[in-house]
Amino acid sequence: MSLNKFYSSLSEQLAGLLSGERDWLANTANASALLFMELADINWAGFYFLQGDELRLGPFQGKPACTRIPVGAGVCGTAVASGESQLVEDVHQFPGHIACDAVSASEVVIPLYDAGGRCLGVLDIDSPTVARFTAEDLAGLQEFARVLLNCSEIPPVIPHSY
Ligand code: SME
Repeated sequence: MSLNKFYSSLSEQLAGLLSGERDWLANTANASALLFMELADINWAGFYFLQGDELRLGPFQGKPACTRIPVGAGVCGTAVASGESQLVEDVHQFPGHIACDAVSASEVVIPLYDAGGRCLGVLDIDSPTVARFTAEDLAGLQEFARVLLNCSEIPPVIPHSY
């Protein structure tokens, strides 16, 4: 699918914002801020990073969220376990959905991989509106994630020790 104007411009904005900076934490922080600023009708945008067999909360914008999600649990954990992006029209119909904010109604989650195929975690975006995200949104956000990964130095895995 070719990207619509909104998402090609969003990815260009991201590339500009991240130019000259390759720090993964700084770049994911700014990426979440850009998404929260530019996407209409969302209430949360951010990252969970994979550590061992669970996802841990990373940089985000929105209300405070749950900090640890086991691989396989909820929408985020399902994205990692399956290796597939999740486009969920109605989170209340998703078995095992983790409700960090009762207001969230739909969600898109994209698993992130480094060049060697190692899973790094997920990009998660929530909306208070049912069916807020379309296949076009998903394609645009996958491109956004690709730009983020290309612009960043991925750190080695942090040992799962606590
Ligand atoms: N709803 C997610 C949990 C993360 S929050 O949306 C920020 C899930 O079911 O994985």
